[in-house]
This record gives sequence, C-alpha cells and structure tokens, in this order.
Amino acid sequence: MIIAIDGPTASGKGTLAKRVAAHYGFHLLDTGLLYRAVAQTMRDAGQSLHNENAATLVAQKLDFEALDERRLRTREIGDAASVISVYPGVRQALFEGQRLFAQKQPGAVLDGRDIGTVICPEAEAKLFVTATPEIRAHRRWLELVKQDPALSEESVLEDIRRRDERDSNRSHAPLKIADDARLLDTSGMDIETASREALRLIEASLSRKG
Ligand code: DC
Repeated sequence: MIIAIDGPTASGKGTLAKRVAAHYGFHLLDTGLLYRAVAQTMRDAGQSLHNENAATLVAQKLDFEALDERRLRTREIGDAASVISVYPGVRQALFEGQRLFAQKQPGAVLDGRDIGTVICPEAEAKLFVTATPEIRAHRRWLELVKQDPALSEESVLEDIRRRDERDSNRSHAPLKIADDARLLDTSGMDIETASREALRLIEASLSRKG
C-alpha cells in the first residue's frame, strides 16, 4: 500500500505525512531530505551547486538510511536542495531508491513534490497539500524565528515564492497536482483539523479503490 503526499514548501505536508504514517503503522520517507542531503554533501565538499555532474555522482552514492534530519532542515539547505533538484541526473539517481522504499510492507507514505505524478503514479491514495503563500510563510517564520529573532516574515515569504517558482517551473518532474490526487488546502485549518481531513480524504480514496 502506497500513500503519496505532495505539495509546496511549508504546506504542512511533512507533519501530515508523519501523522498518516503513524495512523496506519506505515514506513515514512520525506523525499525532500534526499535532495537536501545531496546539497549538504556538495556544500561540505566545497562543490558548486551548479555542477550537475558532481550533484549526480553524489545522488548516486546517497545512503537513504543515513540522513541527519536535524542538520538538513535549515533554510539554506532547503534553498540549495531546490537548486540541485532541477537536474535530471539527480532525479534519475534518486528514483530507484524511492521506488524500492515504496514497496516496504505493510505500506509506505512518501512525501515530496512528484510522488503522485512520477515516483509512484500507482499509489492507492494521493494527497496534494497546499495553503496560501502568506499562510505558509507565517507558519515557517514561527518555526525559524526561535533560532533567528531578527528574521522578518517578509523575507520568509520571498523565499517561499522563489522556491515555489523554481519547483513548479522546472522541466523535469515539476511540482504539480496529479490528475487523481485529492486537494487539501490547509489555509484555514489548524493541524488537528488538517490531520482529520487528510485521513478522511485518504479513506475515501482507499474505499473507492477497494
Ligand atoms: O520538502 P523540502 O522543503 O524538504 O524539499 C527541499 C527541495 O527539494 C524542494 O525545494 C524541491 C526538492 N524536492 C523535489 O524536487 N522533489 C521531491 N520529491 C522533494 C523535494
């Protein structure tokens, strides 16, 4: 059983994916961490993010089991990940590992940008989680301002718009809603409401398929 959860940055899809995986007792893969890890490894090695061949080699050697989430979840690495994720070689190198993960039993939840469209088009349930850029920026700012009190909400909104633009307009596997995905706009929802709604939409998809 595969559940695909896609959506733009700071839409809340990561939190929802965790809750959905816990609810069903499924394995969880946050695929954004894979792109972040490629970017981080390149940074550590002093390589330019604009070197597609180097990024592809790093992606080919990436160990999915050794992702240091705390280190990868910074604003800079998120932005760098968005740069290297446009390279077809990087996406190709990460494809098989994601496909393999999706076969785990009793089931897997994968969250990202292209899970329902490219990685697992056969997923039994697909959600596309979104919210307005302003609301996503506000949520992200609330998280980041704890470490950086001088951070302005406006600069976070600019980051989000830049990431949306890059993720949606790249030629390979752009962020877009799959034809058979259910849309969940969390703009007016708290996390409890959004979680309930996510489970309701997934159950509706599963009962239609079963
Ligand atoms: O979800 P995130 O913020 O951790 O993702 C970081 C970047 O990685 C995102 O801007 C685009 C890229 N990404 C991708 O291209 N495809 C995915 N399935 C997941 C992330």
